[in-house]
Amino acid sequence: MTTPRRLLAISGSLRRASLNTAAARAALALLPAGWSGELVLLHDIPPYNEDLRAGGAFPPPVQALRDAIRAADALLIVSPEYNYSIPGVLKNAIDWVSRPPEQPFAGKPIATMGASPGAFGTVRMQPHLRFVLASLGAQVLWRPDVLIRDATQKFDERGELVDTETRELVVRLLAALAEWTERLRR
Ligand SMILES: Cc1cc2nc3c(=O)[nH]c(=O)nc-3n(C[C@H](O)[C@H](O)[C@H](O)COP(=O)(O)O)c2cc1C
Repeated sequence: MTTPRRLLAISGSLRRASLNTAAARAALALLPAGWSGELVLLHDIPPYNEDLRAGGAFPPPVQALRDAIRAADALLIVSPEYNYSIPGVLKNAIDWVSRPPEQPFAGKPIATMGASPGAFGTVRMQPHLRFVLASLGAQVLWRPDVLIRDATQKFDERGELVDTETRELVVRLLAALAEWTERLRR
């Protein structure tokens, strides 16, 4: 029997009708056998400010995010591209989580995905995100790329991912992440 594994999905968008949050939810519904998961949204993470670490303690929402990342076997970060790069909301959360002691990105298997209504599907953001995660010692998975371009046509009005090709690609990414996670544990 295989050991149960947990995925933490993080959305880089706060928007209620976010395409990226919808993509993250779709991924959670397509996890391989033996995996379960949950979605984290970043609404409660304050702007980074060292002054908020009174006595060394992180603000409670930051501590909760750090704990959730530490407890997960792997992460899936699903984010929009803003001005060719990482949205400030997501970078801000990464900055909080990256602070010592024992920052939980180190050694963590992480895959990235992104959706855009435009033609480029976050192709310029994802390498930036992977670079930042690699700088923190994360074990970033580079293939397959999941670049959901023309994304408004790939989800229905309820936010369900209805595009068959994209669903298959997400399944392939999740299988690769699961295999990557097991390989890193050996
Ligand atoms: C500040 C800002 C910058 C943006 N820059 C880009 C960009 O560089 N590339 C791109 O494909 N889309 C860009 N967009 C459009 C987003 O892809 C689009 O708003 C998308 O729906 C955001 O993701 P969400 O639906 O998950 O919120 C930008 C949007 C905003 C608000």
